[in-house]
Amino acid sequence: MSVEVLCAPTLRSLNDSAAALFEAAALAAVRSNGSFRVALAGGTTPKAVYSLLADAPKSQVPWAKIDFFWGDERHVSPNHPDSNFRMARESMLDRLSIDPGHVWRIKGEYPRAEDAAREYEDQLRSAFGLGPAQTPRFDLVLLGLGLDGHTASLFPGTTALAERRRLAVANHVAKLDTDRITLTVPVLNAARHVLFLVHGADKAAALRETLEGQYSPDEVPAQSIRLDDGRLTWLVDPSAAGLLRSTKTTELPS
Ligand code: 6PG
Repeated sequence: MSVEVLCAPTLRSLNDSAAALFEAAALAAVRSNGSFRVALAGGTTPKAVYSLLADAPKSQVPWAKIDFFWGDERHVSPNHPDSNFRMARESMLDRLSIDPGHVWRIKGEYPRAEDAAREYEDQLRSAFGLGPAQTPRFDLVLLGLGLDGHTASLFPGTTALAERRRLAVANHVAKLDTDRITLTVPVLNAARHVLFLVHGADKAAALRETLEGQYSPDEVPAQSIRLDDGRLTWLVDPSAAGLLRSTKTTELPS
């Protein structure tokens, strides 16, 4: 596993760099195996990146060859303001008229989140052509970092953190008083490339704990992300990196 921390001088350059990394990963995957399978992140950070990708006039992204998945979803309908699917649909997918057959939505509207997780697992196995004991290897997984060190919907002290057999699970998040559906650690760690997008001073403590704190993934779930055989990229801005002391960062040009 290679780990890199790239520091973009501004939020705009962070978003531009994220879009460029997405495009490069998509082109490389399509060149080598004819398709690009990406797990999108939710939350707010990636929204600007998705919009940039959708609007890029000189984009080389091979959109028709991409299969879109999600790293996690809230237990809400696809039109709910909190839906990660809705965020990606509005900021990117609808603007590119992506074939719905290439969009693998987590059914957050199901009354039982576990039913959505089970169906998502079936979809993953079908889309990746997997047997029952195999793990999908995403070409790219986009992730964010929560203030408490969570990523995807792997929150501190929750049961999903320990899951090593399932591909996706329902995860009750007591502090939010809600269920989520999330990819599990083995799936995230099987990826060819994981790209974390982290900006803002409010994330500085969580980033320092993740990268420089004692290894304690139950308290700092983002520490669970240690790729089996892939590239782990942290794309941050100076305010998020403000508390880092021992981490080697690569300064990106503006
Ligand atoms: C979600 C995400 C979650 C998110 C972080 C950071 O469903 O909310 O999967 O892990 O990436 O909470 O969120 P922001 O980008 O909004 O700071």
